[in-house]
Amino acid sequence: MAPASTRISSIPPSGIRRLFELSQGIEGLISLGLGEPDFPTPGHVIEAYKDALDKGFTKYAPTMGIPELRQAISEKYGNEYGVDYDAKTQVIVTSGASEAIFASITSIVNAGDEVIIPDPGFLLYGPIVRIAGGKPVMLELKEKENFNVMADRLNELITNRTKVLVLNLPSNPTGTTMGKRGQQAIADIVNDRDIVVISDEVYEKLVYGKKHTNFASLGVEDKVVTVNSFSKTYSMTGMRLGYAIGPKEVISNVFKAHQFSVVCVNTATQKAGVAALTGPQDCVEEMRKEYGQRRDILTKGLNSLKGVSCIEPQGAFYCFANITETGLSAFDLSDGLLTDARVVGVPGTAFGENGGGYMRFAYSVPREKLHGAIERMEPFFGGL
Ligand SMILES: Cc1ncc(COP(=O)(O)O)c(C=O)c1O
Repeated sequence: MAPASTRISSIPPSGIRRLFELSQGIEGLISLGLGEPDFPTPGHVIEAYKDALDKGFTKYAPTMGIPELRQAISEKYGNEYGVDYDAKTQVIVTSGASEAIFASITSIVNAGDEVIIPDPGFLLYGPIVRIAGGKPVMLELKEKENFNVMADRLNELITNRTKVLVLNLPSNPTGTTMGKRGQQAIADIVNDRDIVVISDEVYEKLVYGKKHTNFASLGVEDKVVTVNSFSKTYSMTGMRLGYAIGPKEVISNVFKAHQFSVVCVNTATQKAGVAALTGPQDCVEEMRKEYGQRRDILTKGLNSLKGVSCIEPQGAFYCFANITETGLSAFDLSDGLLTDARVVGVPGTAFGENGGGYMRFAYSVPREKLHGAIERMEPFFGGL
């Protein structure tokens, strides 16, 4: 067999994948493992998709995305955050935020460049930086600081090799979001330096209390690529629709990464995206409210378990529970939970070394399942 690429083969397999393999064949599991909305995709979005197929939108789309979708994205940022993006040159439609992250990192990072990424953080960033030949530099997030990105710690990590900073607010896996003031301190640091920020804001609409701050809008538009998605906001995970917006010079290279891999996003999906952005938004608010209720149930439930504590998440749909008092590693605990309590949670180590004493539980499932999971976990934790 031909030897594998060391850049790919040296990347360890995802901790989440292993968990799903272990879960196969266990009957009646309650899974709080996957970060996927359980709500159906809004009806008007589905209708727009079907209509697009009926009208023959089954051919290649422009590589940057269909003009009406790029226009709708540009208008969204103008209306919601007061930031102007030229729909023609500064907006590119991608196959989910995942591709937007991949194409952004690979089109910015050179071999040996340092990329600062949050730890714990979404598990895609580190491997993509390595595929690009870059060096991931972990920015430690601490529970006692609400898992906020602390400006002084960030400052200490910046060297003359730092090329990119990845931000993800609201955060997967911690559920943290930061107000304008905290984010401004980060923007001030970036403003003084030659660093590009990739700001992953896929959970922008899932905030409970604090209003979302678009990082680019803090006077740093010329340094920020904002990555966003339709997956979480409109419950469209399988439609694979996302985008990257940012400085023209960066987007023109993201365009190349996209062109030479994906070519263009499914045309009918893009039509559905136009309906999602320009249609009624009450479905988004309804989902957010329900997630808010579920958040309360899960946070309270987790805090009632012996040896578990969990700060109240302010965004996304994850509880990141501290399990250090159980004396077990997150890895062993997740295996035990799976086999003894038949509940799936993800060990925090899947999100980086600093996730070691934590488990991530997603509340993107109906309330009954959350109650059921807590009931099952009670005797498990009680008996440790
Ligand atoms: C922080 C974060 N960014 C990006 C993504 C990818 O989303 P998409 O479905 O748009 O590829 C996810 C999905 O879980 C996520 O949690």
